Amino acid sequence: MNHFDYINHTLHVEDVAIEKIAAEIGTPFYIYSTKTLLRHYQVFSDAMKKNGLDALICYAVKANPNLSVIKTLANVGCGADVVSEGELRKALAAGVPANKIVFSGVGKSHDEIKYAIEKNIHEINVESYGELEVISQIAVNMNKQVEIAIRLNPDVDAGTHEKISTGKKENKFGIDMEMAGQIYAKAANLPGIKPVSVAVHIGSQLTSLEPCRKAFSKLAETITALQGQGIKLKRLDLGGGIGIPYDKNDTIPPSPDEYAKVIKETVGHLNLPIMLEPGRMIVGNAGMMITKVIVQKNGLDRKFIILDAAMNDLIRPTLYNGHHEIIPIKQTNADTQYITADIVGPICESGDIFAKGRKIPILNIGDIVAFGSAGAYGASMSSTYNSRRLIPEILVDGNKFAIIRKRQTYEELLALDKIAAWLQ
Ligand code: LLP
Repeated sequence: MNHFDYINHTLHVEDVAIEKIAAEIGTPFYIYSTKTLLRHYQVFSDAMKKNGLDALICYAVKANPNLSVIKTLANVGCGADVVSEGELRKALAAGVPANKIVFSGVGKSHDEIKYAIEKNIHEINVESYGELEVISQIAVNMNKQVEIAIRLNPDVDAGTHEKISTGKKENKFGIDMEMAGQIYAKAANLPGIKPVSVAVHIGSQLTSLEPCRKAFSKLAETITALQGQGIKLKRLDLGGGIGIPYDKNDTIPPSPDEYAKVIKETVGHLNLPIMLEPGRMIVGNAGMMITKVIVQKNGLDRKFIILDAAMNDLIRPTLYNGHHEIIPIKQTNADTQYITADIVGPICESGDIFAKGRKIPILNIGDIVAFGSAGAYGASMSSTYNSRRLIPEILVDGNKFAIIRKRQTYEELLALDKIAAWLQ
């Protein structure tokens, strides 16, 4: 069921008309649907259960770190995968229990490690021998025992955009899988840490499960070898990465059920509880970005539709050539006429482009359009480039909506800077 739908010819999120919110708070803004968020979590979690998998689902906070989004998921039992102290603090503030939080990331600062240990989180995923030693030292100083996973790099091509592919040898992530025996033996001898798990994450927006099958099979072999070496593992972490449809003409990415089956087939025989770190799959299609037409410019060669949102608000199109559907909030009909135009933002660089040569209904100044699939890596990757203010985020639940991040004010924007004393 789709919770972004036209009711009386105007686009709604659940029972709330987008135009009503736009009139109240102005554009641009992000808007999320609680029912969609919960449905995605439920479908994912049910798929694991149905396939007999004992899985702790740790939502990848980086996809959308708004406290209300995290809390919506925490309330139904979801854990969190965090990659910085900021994300860890957010997960805790949103009510995720510490024993459901995993701290991933290729480089954690000493302060971040200390904070994570102090909070007794479930596990820290380690990506280098250097980091193992640092965690061991910090844990010993704090008189603690920390459960860790070592992230292994299976050297598998995830078949996704090069900037979000993480499981090949040339990527900075994890430790070469061939070195697992060596590194676990070392870890087992370090005080303060207990290597209890193995982690992999091969990339994001995966549209085929074959790379997962390869990576998880390699992982299963490695785990068997580690167990033969006397390493006792309590669980394994299979990361995130399941893709979502961005374009209605795309082939549909694998379903959670198909994903669960691949997990069962590759690592099921190990009989270890698993952890999963989905981000985009949960929140990507639970959100839209809403923006207004500032002006249309008709050049000799091309038409440009200039919106009030820009690459600082949604960077995916220019950074990864990401496709987002762009639809008017007023429903089209058989009489609607279309043009082909470049859809751009007002920022002063040519990269500030959302879509090239897109067929779109004719729009007038002030018309509002919605960008689909913008719930993941939209607001979370936004910036204030061109000294533009961070835009609001709205959460809808049925006929209720709440501003879950307000529009930054110009005072707040200016207050971030200080004029050096000698310039005063
Ligand atoms: N676990 C780890 C260790 C990760 O690095 C990531 C994503 C995830 C889980 C969640 O992956 P997901 O299920 O969301 O695919 N900004 C990019 C995506 C970057 C993904 C980074 N790591 C984009 O907009 O496409």
